[in-house]
Amino acid sequence: MRAVGIAVFLGLLAGAWSQVASPVLRPDCDSPEVEEAALAAQDYMNSQLTHGYKYALNQIDEVKTIPRPDGGENYVVEMDLLETKCHVLDPMPVANCTVRPRQETKVEADCDVVLSKVGGVLSVVAYKCKSEPGMCPQKSKITV
Ligand SMILES: *[C@@H]1O[C@H](CO)[C@@H](O)[C@H](O)[C@H]1NC(C)=O
Repeated sequence: MRAVGIAVFLGLLAGAWSQVASPVLRPDCDSPEVEEAALAAQDYMNSQLTHGYKYALNQIDEVKTIPRPDGGENYVVEMDLLETKCHVLDPMPVANCTVRPRQETKVEADCDVVLSKVGGVLSVVAYKCKSEPGMCPQKSKITV
């Protein structure tokens, strides 16, 4: 199912760029460039949140890079993030935030992100996330 989602997503992108047979590269998920892109995506997505808690990058699942006509490249990153204990309004950098322990983890976000890198500058072009309830969703406590 995931593969289909990505294929559709890439298909849409390919259409938007009107690129014919541009080579898709699969860089190493652990490379510094990929990590930099994933962290830029993490920061961007956190900046878009208006309520709740910040998310920290947990794992990069898949990366593709596609050359752009302007000499830059686009990154298509599939990554997952975990909810931290830092509120979105907390100025603490997310790198310093504690990820909620498994039992408390309310939300894990599975995201597909497209970034462009032109002249060394990364920008998020598009993203979509699927939030999944954690293993033990928080239940509201009834106090008598
Ligand atoms: C975040 O962590 C870094 C590295 O551990 C530390 O130098 C910095 O002071 C911390 N920032 C805050 C706001 O706690």
